Amino acid sequence: MLVVMTCRIHAISEKESDETVRERTSWIQGWTYAAIIFTILAIIACIYWMIRGTAYEGHLMEWLNIVIRVMHFTFGIAWIGASFYFVFLENALNRTEGIRDELAGNLWAVHGGGFYYLEKYKVAPKNIPKHLHWFKYEAYFTWISGFALLFIIYYFNASAMLIDPNVMRLTTLQAIGISVGSFIVAWIIYDLLCKSSLAKTPILFALAGIIVLIGFAYFYSHVFSGRAAFIHFGAMIGSLMVGNVFFVIIPAQKAMVSAAKKGELPDAQKGKNALFRSISNNYFTLPVLFVMVSNHFPSTFGNKYQWIVLAAISIGAAGIKHWLNLREQGKLGVWVLPVSVVVLLAVAYVTAPQPSNAKCKEISFAEVNAIIQQRCISCHSSKPTDNTYTAAPNGTKYDTPAEIVAKKDLIMQRVIITKTMPQNNKTNMMPEERDVIRCWIEQGAKIQ
Ligand code: HEC
Repeated sequence: MLVVMTCRIHAISEKESDETVRERTSWIQGWTYAAIIFTILAIIACIYWMIRGTAYEGHLMEWLNIVIRVMHFTFGIAWIGASFYFVFLENALNRTEGIRDELAGNLWAVHGGGFYYLEKYKVAPKNIPKHLHWFKYEAYFTWISGFALLFIIYYFNASAMLIDPNVMRLTTLQAIGISVGSFIVAWIIYDLLCKSSLAKTPILFALAGIIVLIGFAYFYSHVFSGRAAFIHFGAMIGSLMVGNVFFVIIPAQKAMVSAAKKGELPDAQKGKNALFRSISNNYFTLPVLFVMVSNHFPSTFGNKYQWIVLAAISIGAAGIKHWLNLREQGKLGVWVLPVSVVVLLAVAYVTAPQPSNAKCKEISFAEVNAIIQQRCISCHSSKPTDNTYTAAPNGTKYDTPAEIVAKKDLIMQRVIITKTMPQNNKTNMMPEERDVIRCWIEQGAKIQ
């Protein structure tokens, strides 16, 4: 189809300029890609419909998870990479030596076996070049793939992943409603903050922002499971970042380009707003990156005061970004790095396992096995009976004594220290049972 259309365009092109042809080709290409994507989505939906409730369902979900996750972090790397690069440029531009009048600065760089020379204009070049590269799809696709992941992992399995009845009894619909609603509310609050007079004083703006973020950390960890609370915090900040690109930065750039084309002076305030949002995004990056990997670290999201852990790690990470920015600008901020590191170390310290006072009697493997059979096997077995998991999660099975012993350190971590297993305590494990398992591991995890 594409070939036929391109041929038609070639026929017409005799009358049209190259530029219109190129525009139209890219337009047709865009729609063709969209059609392909919709076809793939429809095929996946059909397959899902056919294999629903069979062991293949878990497999399909796992592969969707793999593909979309890889897309998500690839787009994320491209986006955050570009963001880091441009903030670095801003910070490192030579603004003094031999600068033409119309320039804000320039920079020489060597990379990948070549020399690069870059100039930043104070306002805009006299003629806007025909081929102007926009950085926007990285951000949009990161958000779209992230939302798809949220859907596959958390919305689709809301009863297992999103909702923890020990935190709040929600229905799937309520939980998803809160999730989506919270992103919208967060954007409204953040956008108002940026437009308020607070934004004129960076320190006050940062403080207000931190208070709002702590509020969200508190809110999420009081409605969702620990793991979902962390991811929502990250997804919320990620949505603010994309909102900045979509609603402020790109429109400002479009206005600049169109003003320059008409030979008018662009609205400087729009440019300033865009830069403000861009810097704001820059501070968001490290906290978001931490949150995105946090589900590998149950000692963080499994903590009793996980919202404080989350807030403290985010502040520490943003502090490190601040120090990096100061350094690139050649400014002095000696105290910023040590304070940020101390905050992060403090989190590591307070989340360390607490010694248990309960005395241990001699524990036999039979007692431990009975507990594991009752509380874990519904999910962690070669044939799970759980209503959500049709395959052993993470391949972790406790069908034989050897499998239990082999995983004793992980059991200690998840069942005793962080208490993040059984998942959301779905099988109602008692505190005394956790003690039995702890004693058995401390006594050397013997099978006899
Ligand atoms: C309702 C289902 C369910 C029950 C019951 C359950 N788990 Fe899990 N478990 C999971 C899921 C899902 C994961 C993977 C996600 C995660 O790591 O949080 C997991 C992961 C784990 C891991 C981490 C494995 C790894 O490779 O990182 C350990 C260890 C574990 N479970 C131990 C247990 C123990 C011990 C019990 C019983 C006391 C138990 N689980 C009960 C669902 C369950």
